[in-house]
Amino acid sequence: MTDTPTARPDESTLRIRRAVSVDLPELIALENRVFSGDRLSARQWSQHLASDTARIFVARSQSTLLGASVVFFRRNSSVARLYSLATLPEARGRGIGDRLVAAVEQLSRRRQCRALRLEVRSDNAAAQRLYLQRGYRLIGERLAYYEDGVDALRFEKLLSGKPSQDLPVQSGAR
Ligand SMILES: CC(C)(COP(=O)(O)OP(=O)(O)OC[C@H]1O[C@@H](n2cnc3c(N)ncnc32)[C@H](O)[C@@H]1OP(=O)(O)O)[C@@H](O)C(=O)NCCC(=O)NCCS
Repeated sequence: MTDTPTARPDESTLRIRRAVSVDLPELIALENRVFSGDRLSARQWSQHLASDTARIFVARSQSTLLGASVVFFRRNSSVARLYSLATLPEARGRGIGDRLVAAVEQLSRRRQCRALRLEVRSDNAAAQRLYLQRGYRLIGERLAYYEDGVDALRFEKLLSGKPSQDLPVQSGAR
């Protein structure tokens, strides 16, 4: 492994784990830096942190929060929803987004979900490529879904019964 800026994160310092309340200020700061609209409020972040039907994962390297993913579960539904995914601009291209999605998939499998679904902006090529690379497929669209009128593309990944071997999720994932 090299130490160039595009190198994969150092396994010894990068950790993907369940978010806890001390992560809240950095989660809000991440949201404000990465998204210009359709943001979660501080109150919503707090609610999701405490909720059984939501799970937030954070990617941390030493003391810095570099990214986060949010998944929602619904009672009596075997379809989970990947609601949010973000990596700080300066930390992109190092596999963090991929690992945050992998953590969501692993938890969804453990919760016996048969599929994960998500919406992504039709103009967001980077995220679409990430999802396609991880085996998601296009299942539809929602016109003018976002605050600024951009359409959403809907993607789905069917989750096999076998737990994924591809991620080093730290404590907290069930
Ligand atoms: C989308 C996002 C989360 C990707 O995070 P990341 O940590 O840079 O992603 P990774 O380094 O794990 O990249 C994984 C794959 O995503 C795709 N990808 C990531 N950035 C890309 C880019 N700029 N252009 C094209 N493909 C890209 C590639 O397929 C990449 O795989 P590769 O490295 O083997 O080519 C990040 O760009 C981001 O936070 N964007 C703004 C918020 C956002 O769009 N969230 C998704 C909402 S649905």
